[in-house]
Amino acid sequence: MDKGATFPITGNNTRVLVTGAAGFIGFHSASRLASLGAQVVGVDDFNGYYSPELKRARALKLKTTWGVNVVEGDVCDGDMLGGLFKRFKPTHVLHLAAQPGVRYSLKHPQVYVRANMQCFVNLLETMVAPSSSNKNGEAPELPYLVYASSSSVYGANSKVPFAESDTADRPANLYGATKRANEQTAFAYHQLFGLRSVGLRFFTVYGPWGRPDMAVYSFANAMEAGKPITLFNGGAMRRDFTYVGDIVDGIVKVLGMLCLKGTRRRCPLLCPAIPPL
Ligand SMILES: NC(=O)c1ccc[n+]([C@@H]2O[C@H](COP(=O)([O-])OP(=O)(O)OC[C@H]3O[C@@H](n4cnc5c(N)ncnc54)[C@H](O)[C@@H]3O)[C@@H](O)[C@H]2O)c1
Repeated sequence: MDKGATFPITGNNTRVLVTGAAGFIGFHSASRLASLGAQVVGVDDFNGYYSPELKRARALKLKTTWGVNVVEGDVCDGDMLGGLFKRFKPTHVLHLAAQPGVRYSLKHPQVYVRANMQCFVNLLETMVAPSSSNKNGEAPELPYLVYASSSSVYGANSKVPFAESDTADRPANLYGATKRANEQTAFAYHQLFGLRSVGLRFFTVYGPWGRPDMAVYSFANAMEAGKPITLFNGGAMRRDFTYVGDIVDGIVKVLGMLCLKGTRRRCPLLCPAIPPL
């Protein structure tokens, strides 16, 4: 792991900044992007919501196997983020850093307001910052943004399966509300600054190196220990699960789509490998 101040950043092709790179989906995304030939830098604050040791183990694996460095830093820290943007000059930002989990939000609401809303706006402000200093009259080349939203935005909807055209304006918890706020904020930044972004509404993700706070992981642990599993809602819960490799396929395709649709920027490493959606 490298601290932001000393991080060596080189090269000039497809450069993807992955926030939350030491997290579950961030780890898989960063490794896939690097193996496709993109330059990847991660940032993560290694917070203690769940085992920081697991996050550090992911970051170490990223470094040793794929040469991806994970800078230790907080996305809410404007100076750190601004410095990282100046040195790495990302063509794309994959924003996965957030406070996840629905049940935790019931007891820790302010953590969600900070991590999911304040940090998100801080990231957007950093991304559009060059536009204010553009003096040649051309539209500035802002990086593209792909960020994690959540199936939680569908909230109180009772119709299943959900569809993207369903209303997402009745979140049933603060986590869902912060993710919906991300979607609306990203739209506003497109209106204001032309920032191009895609939000992805992930449905419960599972797979190797997964999150210990999630049901699949705790079920597996309990089964291995010969203990009963705990089912909430009297066992009447229904849910879609998505394998993390499929999530990463989608992320990579969307990043490639943003390359292809871009007016001026070329992404020589990602685009040829990725068919448009
Ligand atoms: N895993 C799922 O089932 C699922 C479902 C829907 C949406 N999502 C969303 O996908 C994204 C990734 O989820 P995940 O399962 O990989 O979670 P995760 O907790 O494993 O990864 C998030 C990472 O972000 C880091 N982080 C949090 N706040 C930060 C900050 N302020 N600055 C820097 N780093 C910070 C954490 O330390 C963590 O490593 C999140 O935005 C989450 O809300 C996940």
